[in-house]
Amino acid sequence: MAQLSIWIGIATLIFLQNVSAINLVCYFTSWSQYREAPGGFVTDDIEPDLCTHIIYAFANISGNQITKYEWNDDTTYNNLRGLKTRNPKLKILLSVGGANLGSRPFQNINSSPATRSEFVASVISFLRKNNFDGIDVAWHRPSQNNKRDLVKLVQDLNVAFRYEARKNPNRQNLILSVAVPAGKEAIDSGFDIPNIARFADFLNVMTFDFHGYWSDHSHPYTGHGSPLRKSRADKGAAAFYNVDYAVRYLKTKGAPNSKIIMGIPTYGHTFTLSSAQTGLGAPASGPGLAGPFTKTAGILAYYEICSFNHGATIEKIEEQSVPYSYKGNQWVGYEDETSVQIKVQYAKNNNLGGVMVWTLDQDDFSGTFCKNRNYPLLAAIKKELNK
Ligand SMILES: *[C@@H]1O[C@H](CO)[C@@H](O)[C@H](O)[C@H]1NC(C)=O
Repeated sequence: MAQLSIWIGIATLIFLQNVSAINLVCYFTSWSQYREAPGGFVTDDIEPDLCTHIIYAFANISGNQITKYEWNDDTTYNNLRGLKTRNPKLKILLSVGGANLGSRPFQNINSSPATRSEFVASVISFLRKNNFDGIDVAWHRPSQNNKRDLVKLVQDLNVAFRYEARKNPNRQNLILSVAVPAGKEAIDSGFDIPNIARFADFLNVMTFDFHGYWSDHSHPYTGHGSPLRKSRADKGAAAFYNVDYAVRYLKTKGAPNSKIIMGIPTYGHTFTLSSAQTGLGAPASGPGLAGPFTKTAGILAYYEICSFNHGATIEKIEEQSVPYSYKGNQWVGYEDETSVQIKVQYAKNNNLGGVMVWTLDQDDFSGTFCKNRNYPLLAAIKKELNK
């Protein structure tokens, strides 16, 4: 009897440990390998103990099947698998979709129940063959017409995953996550939140890209990509463009707290200033200059921001709990160790399922640039999560 109750005690402890762990879900992209050294990122740069989940972005869709995207994906998949020898608890997911793939391939696989089930079957065999623990569905901008199809896809994956695990008791249920936008308009048009949340294990909420210099010139003034809260300057729809609003909106739409994984970016949105003004809402004539490694106008990785910040003026937007800096006519809104810790506190105070980071490869993963330890942002996030 005593032995039994001790055993139950231990079992309960183990169980509690599993459910109370707050997830740290970390994406990295396949194209980060092509950046020039020391910006180039490969699986060897991943620390297996930093995150609870690693998500590799992206896989392709060809015909009605999931397929690899990069010429060297077999090697990458194999190296990812190798991380588990150093952290057996690490979960590794493959994300399918993304902005480059667009909506069309998802529309094609949803053209009939038969094509959808062909896709679902291909996902299971592809994940098992390559030893992934699950899939992340990243359908970029589903339209109003695709809303039902996205739910059906997530539902069919859920049902098939559970059936597969029942038939193979030695296997763990494959994990199913869905990438969800944070903009109210995008959620309203394409995402049936209660039903997606019902069938997915968790939602990776993309609480970033709220402000940037967009190619349609619709945003010709400075703004932070991932402000925690609204600023006094945010009028009308701009009041929706912050992390707090997005999280609360998803909750009111029926996403359980425990399935909301709140996104934190390791990159900043940049602007080219067009006047002597340098604050929030200052006029801009275009995106900021491309960084030396990410080579994309309008975006800088955190490690590039560390270099940029030499000689720059650094300010904090107090009401939004995020920093920005400027130098000459260049302006960047970004995350630092303090802002990511405040975001983690927010996620914990709201009992969310955890936080997601987009991406590992834009943090100062090698510690070369910020003159700090490696992964300064990830390390700050992890420390705050475990407090
Ligand atoms: C992805 O699949 C499509 C459809 O087969 C194909 O046209 C495209 O080249 C593939 N992309 C890559 C990067 O392999």
